[in-house]
Amino acid sequence: MDGSFGSASNWLLLGLVVTLGSVASQAEARAFFVFGDSLVDNGNNDYLATTARADSYPYGIDYPTHLPTGRFSNGLNIPDMISEAIGMESTLPYLSPQLTGQRLLVGANFASAGIGILNDTGIQFINIIRIYKQIEYFQQYQQRLSALIGAEQTQRLVNDALVLITLGGNDFVNNYYLVPFSARSRQFSLPDYVVYLISEYRKVLERIYELGARRVLVTGTGPLGCVPAELAMRSRNGECSEELQRAARLFNPQLIQMVNQLNSEIGSNVFVAANAVEMHMDFVSDPQAYGFVTSKIACCGQGPYNGLGLCTVASNLCPNRDLYAFWDPFHPSEKANRIIVQQILTGSTRYMNPMNLSTIMALDSRV
Ligand SMILES: *[C@@H]1O[C@H](CO)[C@@H](O)[C@H](O)[C@H]1NC(C)=O
Ligand SMILES: *[C@@H]1O[C@H](CO)[C@@H](O)[C@H](O)[C@H]1NC(C)=O
Repeated sequence: MDGSFGSASNWLLLGLVVTLGSVASQAEARAFFVFGDSLVDNGNNDYLATTARADSYPYGIDYPTHLPTGRFSNGLNIPDMISEAIGMESTLPYLSPQLTGQRLLVGANFASAGIGILNDTGIQFINIIRIYKQIEYFQQYQQRLSALIGAEQTQRLVNDALVLITLGGNDFVNNYYLVPFSARSRQFSLPDYVVYLISEYRKVLERIYELGARRVLVTGTGPLGCVPAELAMRSRNGECSEELQRAARLFNPQLIQMVNQLNSEIGSNVFVAANAVEMHMDFVSDPQAYGFVTSKIACCGQGPYNGLGLCTVASNLCPNRDLYAFWDPFHPSEKANRIIVQQILTGSTRYMNPMNLSTIMALDSRV
């Protein structure tokens, strides 16, 4: 009798250990999906016939391999650091031929430099993966994963995954403000354009939710008027471009509002808004406090503020990338990305709404 009691409780105990074990390993292995533009592209554009690419020197100069990867950074980008924070290897670009088999379990990066919320954003880059196409690829990914681990497991992996989406900057820079009297600027006043963008961004988020995403970090634009490219083109004295800053200051608060509204309709904090303008403005306003010598001059480029044209082998290149807030005329340096991701992880509600990524991870591990 004693013996059978003993073995029954051993079985119970074993069952508990197995359950806990699989919960723990699920918490450790959390898939990550990335949608958006060049701020988060891990190299999809390397596989496309487009001029929006970062696949040659000196891009990647501080990457572990010291080779270009298609990331618009001297080293790691924001998704890499988020992968690091959740204890995962970096996601592969969805178009990478290496993204097969077990690697699909890590997730995928669908982002493509040059795209925006709108289809007509970035038309000059020709062949890029617009957001509706990125979402189609997300569906295709789920079919491919289902063939490997079954529909139910796929659904669970997607529901438990972390998602990052970064859109909006190009809808201003590579659409509304690309040329004077652009089609969109004749169609909409800036405030009306922002309202239109937010309504289209909302549809994108709703679609990603329909496809199973349940934890989505949503970022808007950085300080558009303060990047070296805009200083070079629009600034007389090194002050940020007032007009582009106005765009960023209209867009980002409305994005946070929209995200909060979506959450209250769903009845759950699926979406988390990251205020990228605030995160950038800290080191743009006081670069020295963050160990930068400048936030106005790009490390790699040419012309005023190194802000004109592309970063290429023929550009000026700074010797120490960690001293520059901007790597190229539009994109933060690896060091600046690190500061941004730190705020995503532990920032107060000034930066993260309704909560930061540390809180999300703590909540989601407590299943
Ligand atoms: C973008 O283009 C796709 C494919 O043509 C279409 O389904 C989608 O509705 C378009 N989106 C917008 C915002 O016009
Ligand atoms: C963010 O993270 C920190 C540290 O993990 C935590 O103490 C803080 O309360 C969090 N803030 C919010 C708004 O979630």
